[in-house]
Amino acid sequence: NDDEKKYRIGFSQCISKDDWRKVMDHEMIVEASLNEDIDLTIFQANEDIEIQKSQIETMINDGFDVIIISPLRPDPLVSLIEKAYDKGIPVIIVDRKINSQKFTAYVGANNIDVGRMAAKYIASQNKENISVLEIKGSDNSSPVIERHLGFHQIINSDPNVSINYSIKEENLPQRLPQILDSLNIKPIHYVFGFNDNIAHDAWKITKSKATESSIKFIGVDGLNGENNGIQLVQNGVLSATVLYPTGGDEALKIAVKILRNEKVDKNNILNTTIIDFRNAEIMKNQYDKINKHQYEIESQQEKIKLQKQTYSTQSNILKLLLGL
Ligand code: FRU
Repeated sequence: NDDEKKYRIGFSQCISKDDWRKVMDHEMIVEASLNEDIDLTIFQANEDIEIQKSQIETMINDGFDVIIISPLRPDPLVSLIEKAYDKGIPVIIVDRKINSQKFTAYVGANNIDVGRMAAKYIASQNKENISVLEIKGSDNSSPVIERHLGFHQIINSDPNVSINYSIKEENLPQRLPQILDSLNIKPIHYVFGFNDNIAHDAWKITKSKATESSIKFIGVDGLNGENNGIQLVQNGVLSATVLYPTGGDEALKIAVKILRNEKVDKNNILNTTIIDFRNAEIMKNQYDKINKHQYEIESQQEKIKLQKQTYSTQSNILKLLLGL
């Protein structure tokens, strides 16, 4: 019965524009819909830290039972998150970290490992004098900081590989053409983009300037679907991508566990792996299957909803006829 108490879970999503974030939101929606007593509200902060602050404020004031946050940056939200936590509201942090330990649970993959995996992939090609261009994300979020750390850690310990250039995503359109023009002075063999979109953009710029180039591209995220990481690996645009799961369904599962008074771990670290030509097809097939199941669940739920509506209209008519 819809009048029964529903638990309210609120989620503040820092960025809205890309597929990775949409997958995260969708995973939460599907997971929430499996629980009749859960009501999920997603707030989109659209990369605006002030909006994200006010969303957390709203969730605290409106008495949400669990708050989930994917924070834009590590510092500005700390005092508000601590306020929620100190009030006893369970707080789950997803993907990006904050500079505080006052939260109930964190869910996400280890971004130092993500950086290390990309570097090891390059180093494992066993060639000499490999040089790399690193393209970092533009914001100072924890994934950017940690991917950079892990990537440099491995490369600095390998005498065969060096990072010749390190630039930021925001400077890509202007810097990459300049770099491509000076390849005879400082070559590059690999580009590591901090996500698949960055790596894809770098590939497009390179293709349009230097059609014969043999530079190889590596990204992060490994999403399924049109123009996403797995497909870019399959069609040879990317040599590899590091899988970075969104953690949407895990975050929602943790929220539900908390509401059911079950114990949850503070750190919930998701697995990552390299996707290249060897496993791209298997990964695609697995995700296609999951998507099919999700779609079936959603259409079943639609049918149940319709049946419930028909039932309640019929019983209202019946009550009217019987003068109840
Ligand atoms: C999407 C994204 C992903 C990246 C993650 C890091 O908004 O930039 O591409 O892996 O966020 O927080």
